[in-house]
Amino acid sequence: MGMKLAISGKGGVGKSTLAAALALILSERGRRVLAVDADPDANLAAALGIPRADRDRIVPIAEQAALVEERTGAKVKQYGQLFKLNPDVADIASTYALRLDNVALLVLGAVSKAGGGCACPESVLLRALVTDLVLYKDDALILDMEAGVEHLGRATARGVDAMLVVVEPGQRALDCARRIAEMAAGIGIRRICFVANRTTGPEDEAFVRDALPRDDVLGAIPYCEELRRADRDGESVLSALRPEQRAWFEAILARLEENLRR
Ligand SMILES: Nc1ncnc2c1ncn2[C@@H]1O[C@H](COP(=O)(O)OP(=O)(O)OP(=O)(O)O)[C@@H](O)[C@H]1O
Ligand SMILES: [Mg+2]
Repeated sequence: MGMKLAISGKGGVGKSTLAAALALILSERGRRVLAVDADPDANLAAALGIPRADRDRIVPIAEQAALVEERTGAKVKQYGQLFKLNPDVADIASTYALRLDNVALLVLGAVSKAGGGCACPESVLLRALVTDLVLYKDDALILDMEAGVEHLGRATARGVDAMLVVVEPGQRALDCARRIAEMAAGIGIRRICFVANRTTGPEDEAFVRDALPRDDVLGAIPYCEELRRADRDGESVLSALRPEQRAWFEAILARLEENLRR
């Protein structure tokens, strides 16, 4: 069965890093991945290592007014209109995504804020994309969410199998992670897991494991110069990792797959 994931967490906590790493590892295993950047401040393309020239050519879905209008029957960025509740999304990935090996990337762009709420056309479209997209056996959908909790009010991630909340070993990131988990449960997401990032030793990892439901902490990604440098140099998150560093992400994925089978 295909797997649909959303990655969320406080700003800067490592969401795009985790989203890109999981997408690339699955892709290397021959699985097709639809990666969706649902953050208006989009940066998943960079984390995937897509060259700047290609990144610059991406037109976010929300800016493809004709597409959103056609699929939702609404004029983009105008409120109070009726639109189709079930836009057809079957072909969106194949028609509008940027491809990198087995990864197809869709960039959502900025959704209407004021008055739009969960009924704005872009949210309706994204929600339909997540819920209605039928994945083939081993395919995966990975959503890189906007930081914080606000987007949860739009419930765009409602249809995922699991939400992964990235957390740093600190009170503020933990508080944010707990709020996200609560709201994610509130919109009906059944499986909520946590990933510790930028840990600097076993104490950090223990801190996170003790603060959250133990079985739901999938693993930890230590602070790692290679990850920081990959971002600086515009390379994919996996590009500079040594095998034992890549294994952090593989272990998280294995734990997740195990959780999803339960
Ligand atoms: N374990 C780590 N060790 C070192 N640097 C890291 C680690 N994880 C992430 N980073 C770096 O931290 C920065 C922020 O990471 P990332 O972009 O993945 O966060 P984000 O949660 O997606 O941020 P935003 O909220 O802005 O979308 C990047 O420069 C990234 O390379
Ligand atoms: Mg990000």
